[in-house]
Amino acid sequence: MIGRICGTGSYVPDHFLDNNDLSQMVETSDEWIRERTGVVRRHIVQEDTVVSMAVKASRRALEGSGIAPEDLDLIIVSTFTSEVLLPSTACEVQKELGAGNATCFDLNAACTGFLFAWNTAQAYLAQGMYRNALIIGAERLSRYVDWKDRSTCILFGDGAGAAVLKAEKGSTLPMFTHSDGAKGEALTCFTRPDTYIQMEGQAVFRFAVKKVPEAVEELLKKADMTMEDIDYLVLHQANRRIVEAVAKRLKTDISRFPMNLQEYGNTSSASIPILLDEMNREGKLKRGQKIILAGFGAGLSWGASLVEW
Ligand code: UT7
Repeated sequence: MIGRICGTGSYVPDHFLDNNDLSQMVETSDEWIRERTGVVRRHIVQEDTVVSMAVKASRRALEGSGIAPEDLDLIIVSTFTSEVLLPSTACEVQKELGAGNATCFDLNAACTGFLFAWNTAQAYLAQGMYRNALIIGAERLSRYVDWKDRSTCILFGDGAGAAVLKAEKGSTLPMFTHSDGAKGEALTCFTRPDTYIQMEGQAVFRFAVKKVPEAVEELLKKADMTMEDIDYLVLHQANRRIVEAVAKRLKTDISRFPMNLQEYGNTSSASIPILLDEMNREGKLKRGQKIILAGFGAGLSWGASLVEW
């Protein structure tokens, strides 16, 4: 069995801060941020919570999916920015959706989290343990950003993305994740004394531009495919220069690497499902197309999954 996407949804708060707004808060400029990152705006929670964003994205994903909330038997939420530690975000989403038959849990693999959720759901569906899964990446990074630190506050935004997966007959497509805890210090968010994201930007940059192409090549090898067989590469949206460097290393035209980081910044585990949903709603995705999802982030962690639309 294989989990096929039958619905996608996303949600970002209306309120946003653009680069000029940030240049009033820290010593930076629109020019620096655009050149070094590609980010122009990031949407920031005012009234919403991680749960409310996850629920709004999920409702949109369920609409037209042919799956009713009570048909869901698995809900996985990837997040590390929930306002409450217990109950889990997934259980709160279950309650709001009325998905009483689902088993629910959260996972934290930072910016690679949606891939971990995808792979976990696929493993359950492949085993025949569940039939209909809802997987969500939902993050409120603005809560954990030090708004006085110009090296990080310019990067991040809030939002949620979701996908509904239905088990169908078929063989699982290649997917994997990797972790390197020994390098975890490069990207941290301690709970005390200050709960702020701290990052060695250049170290994470170098890690991403090395590991993502390696992951894509590993995936292609496992799938017995070449880049010519792939329609799109949906990468975690952290920095335009990372996406461009990955495209260059893979000798693949940048047009196959859709981006929306200019509008949302880095929304961690929400970035891949938000982008996937936008592509879906714009009619870019056609049945049978092959898409590689690839993510990287804190842990350190990274991975890639092959999706057939
Ligand atoms: O989700 C995964 C997690 N994160 C990432 O993927 C992020 C990966 N890293 C990056 O995207 C980049 O490393 C950054 C965008 C964070 C930084 O860009 P960079 O080109 O690596 O800049 P840098 O850290 O080497 O800093 C260059 C200069 C420094 O000044 P000096 O020492 O050369 O005088 C910084 O202090 O730019 C300065 N700088 C800034 N200047 C204006 C750092 N942040 C800013 C800023 N505005 N916002």
